[in-house]
Amino acid sequence: MYTIVDYKHLGGLTHEMSIEAKQLARKAQAGQFLIIRMNDEGERIPLTIADADPDKGTITIVFQAIGRSTEELATYKVGDTLSDVVGPLGRASEIEKYGKVIIVGGGVGIAPIYPIAKALKAAGNHVISIIGAKNKDLLFWEDRMAAVSNELHIATDDGSCGHKGFVTDILDDICQKEEIAAVWAVGPMIMMKNCVRVTKPYGIKTFVSMNPVMIDGTGMCGGCRIQVGDETKFACVDGPEFDGHLVDFDLAMKRSAYLKDMEAKGREYYHD
Ligand code: FES
Repeated sequence: MYTIVDYKHLGGLTHEMSIEAKQLARKAQAGQFLIIRMNDEGERIPLTIADADPDKGTITIVFQAIGRSTEELATYKVGDTLSDVVGPLGRASEIEKYGKVIIVGGGVGIAPIYPIAKALKAAGNHVISIIGAKNKDLLFWEDRMAAVSNELHIATDDGSCGHKGFVTDILDDICQKEEIAAVWAVGPMIMMKNCVRVTKPYGIKTFVSMNPVMIDGTGMCGGCRIQVGDETKFACVDGPEFDGHLVDFDLAMKRSAYLKDMEAKGREYYHD
């Protein structure tokens, strides 16, 4: 059993939880994820590891309560236990000394981008972070991101904090003015697609973290397949990070729209 040791409501549908998981906390690397099951009959929920504290033996997750299982998870409080926390899964981010790098996190994608920024800064890179949300109430972890960035830029759709507009506006502006070695983008699929569109003309290597529906998380079911260049890849074992310039975002978005319908049915069932 894995005990929840800390909980915060971050605003809107977004929740932060720290869970005692000693081995996982020792092994977790930036970019990796885990799978949670609340109880023996529970659905498997894949979530990126947003932070890990090997000394305390805890890992932190951030999730949105938008499906049947995540809504139920949001009702769990400090002291409650989860029956399974499996990980770390997936390949770690390619952390090395690149020079000047840009990190882009949109919406709940701010959480998974945090450990990547932290690791890149620790590796000696100049980290420029751009985070964005619909409005300032949906932003979170500005202080954490500032602590692991040389520069922090904020964008909100309604202009209630930072630049009024999209993270891609700021990304484009910086790419025009500065020599950027690599970009990481994590957030909604459409945001990552647009980040890649911005960086392509500059020829900047751009990593994106794909979050398709996952079932087993170990390469067995094929549910998380995505098209990367000429190859079909499984996000759970080959990723979740891929070269954004090669990802077929249109196909990935089509698949995820189809599965959203099934998700909605599951939610209705849960509420009945
Ligand atoms: Fe089953 Fe990736 S989740 S193959």
